[in-house]
Amino acid sequence: MTTYNVSELYTEVLDAWTILYDRDPAQSERQWINIGLWDTPGIDYETACDHLAGRLYELGRFHGGDTILDVGCGTGTSCRLFSDLTFASEHSRPQIIGINITPKHIDIASRLTDPAVYGDSIQYIQGDATRLNMFDTDRFTKVSALECAFHFNTREAFLNEAFRLLRPGGTLVMADILIKPITPTFDKWRKVFPEKLIRPIFEKPSEYMAMPIENQITATQLQRSLENIGFERISIETINAQTKPFQRHYKKKMKTYLRGQRPEWMPPYDKKHISAFKRKMDFTAITLNLADYVLVKAVK
Ligand SMILES: C[S@@+](CC[C@H](N)C(=O)[O-])C[C@H]1O[C@@H](n2cnc3c(N)ncnc32)[C@H](O)[C@@H]1O
Repeated sequence: MTTYNVSELYTEVLDAWTILYDRDPAQSERQWINIGLWDTPGIDYETACDHLAGRLYELGRFHGGDTILDVGCGTGTSCRLFSDLTFASEHSRPQIIGINITPKHIDIASRLTDPAVYGDSIQYIQGDATRLNMFDTDRFTKVSALECAFHFNTREAFLNEAFRLLRPGGTLVMADILIKPITPTFDKWRKVFPEKLIRPIFEKPSEYMAMPIENQITATQLQRSLENIGFERISIETINAQTKPFQRHYKKKMKTYLRGQRPEWMPPYDKKHISAFKRKMDFTAITLNLADYVLVKAVK
């Protein structure tokens, strides 16, 4: 049976990310772990990530009266940004619950969210976005998933849960990674080749990146799946041109690291995280060429 150890992957990713960005996650206010939206020339990595989360905020029309479930919330940077953007325009904060499967991310999220600023308007829960039965039906006005649904086992299970949890008229927003229609997938190949033969070919990389093969779908397939679940007013926008600059940015960062310009505080044992991370990121960079990065909105 395939195991997708996403929590282990993201513990590693966070350690490596921290080293690459020369920042202690417990000290940093914005500890993003996404590709970013490079929509303005000359912006830095964190600003690109702010812009990506900002697009979800605008797409979902978040406001102070909202009760938002932010799944795959990482270190809570999106929860705080959504809250701060609302506060800046309305002087009130929405109720936000951030849920994440990686205990270390939830730990950092809790430490970085100052109760003197946010009161009890943001809470974090360590858990799986496909198992949300601790929440009642119709509990949330908004559900957001920033660059994480492709990891869920499965995305479809999460979409069903999101639909159950949203109030009628509530909105789901996602930044998600799909595949281009020309990309070979297990689903396509099984129609031509014996399944026993091809399953391992697709499962290996899928396990490596903690992305179930069932999640390799195109925008058309996602649209159909959202409709079947009952969502309406669905929009799926491809933003590949604005996410692609991440690859150049990443390569530059990695080159600096490989030239030995590591932060002085980096303990030697952390090198293993960087190597594991580099292997995974290099692989990701290749697979991103086959991917469709999309912004999704759907209403219950
Ligand atoms: C690419 S990171 C994005 C993190 C955050 N949204 C951000 O933009 O900084 C993917 C996140 O999804 C989380 N994740 C993966 N599978 C999950 C699941 N089944 N349930 C909840 N969180 C999950 C990972 O732990 C990780 O924090």
